Amino acid sequence: MTPLKGPEGFDHFYAEMYGERWPRLKESLLAAKKHVAIVNPFSKFKFSEKPLTVTGLSFEHDVKESFPQPDKTEEGYTNYYLMDAASVLPIEALDLQPGEKVVDLCAAPGGKSFLCALKLQNQGLLVSNDRSAARRARIHRIFDDYLPKTEQKNHKVTGHDASKWCLYEKSAYDKVLLDAPCSSERHVLEDSKELSQWAPGRTKAIAVSQFAMLASALDIVKKEGIVVYSTCALSQLENDDIIRKLYQKRAGRFELIRKEFSFGEPTEFGWQVLPDTTGWGPFYLAVVKRIK
Ligand SMILES: C[S@@+](CC[C@H](N)C(=O)[O-])C[C@H]1O[C@@H](n2cnc3c(N)ncnc32)[C@H](O)[C@@H]1O
Repeated sequence: MTPLKGPEGFDHFYAEMYGERWPRLKESLLAAKKHVAIVNPFSKFKFSEKPLTVTGLSFEHDVKESFPQPDKTEEGYTNYYLMDAASVLPIEALDLQPGEKVVDLCAAPGGKSFLCALKLQNQGLLVSNDRSAARRARIHRIFDDYLPKTEQKNHKVTGHDASKWCLYEKSAYDKVLLDAPCSSERHVLEDSKELSQWAPGRTKAIAVSQFAMLASALDIVKKEGIVVYSTCALSQLENDDIIRKLYQKRAGRFELIRKEFSFGEPTEFGWQVLPDTTGWGPFYLAVVKRIK
């Protein structure tokens, strides 16, 4: 029997994966999104009312369903960056220290790189990489809109294929962020054309390239260095199954670091934030330490 495609196939695939949880999860994926506004310290912006906070986020922020579009303050820098609270977790997991050498392998449009820059305080090295030239332009724009030029001296933007990086550079970074391209099911559900074209082969193909990028990340991080792997996918093929494959193919070269956060839930190898229980996500992350 040929696998189901389109909206029916999508429903069937995720109902099998999430069981009884799927109807509520699907409903929450279609609900309005909340946002976190991360304050840009260089803009000197202050919220007029007492901001709402998400426990565990180390950046000054506020939470709302919708905020006015980010805008420049008198200082000449954009006031805040809007994101999903779960997208801040990989940065918390990286535990960046000023002076470290860091690469964000799939960096555009640049929200997580901006947070990395705030943590590194212009010390060490931050490489923001993305294969897409158009999307790299957005990284440059964000850095110029949010940070003084003098605060970007440790920042480089590159355009390599993350899965091949290890052919040119090995054991070079203290920390690696791999926020991988993924199925982004929330976007698929919101877009009837994308949903009509959905097929189960898609997540399988994406998982192949995600694994290649993670294997590359493990080569380019230094021994004892940390790789954070993350996606906004619901498909387990792109989440825990990628780490399972790393155990099969790179046994003995890494150990898993278990992290807990104030929202979300543990999975076999990592942490997942789903909107039915938290109002944030979907988001998945796993933390890997290179040991050999
Ligand atoms: C999930 S988005 C990254 C979002 C980003 N980390 C942020 O927080 O703004 C994935 C990115 O990976 C890039 N990409 C896809 N394949 C790639 C590859 N083989 N090497 C490097 N970048 C890639 C895409 O252009 C896309 O911008």
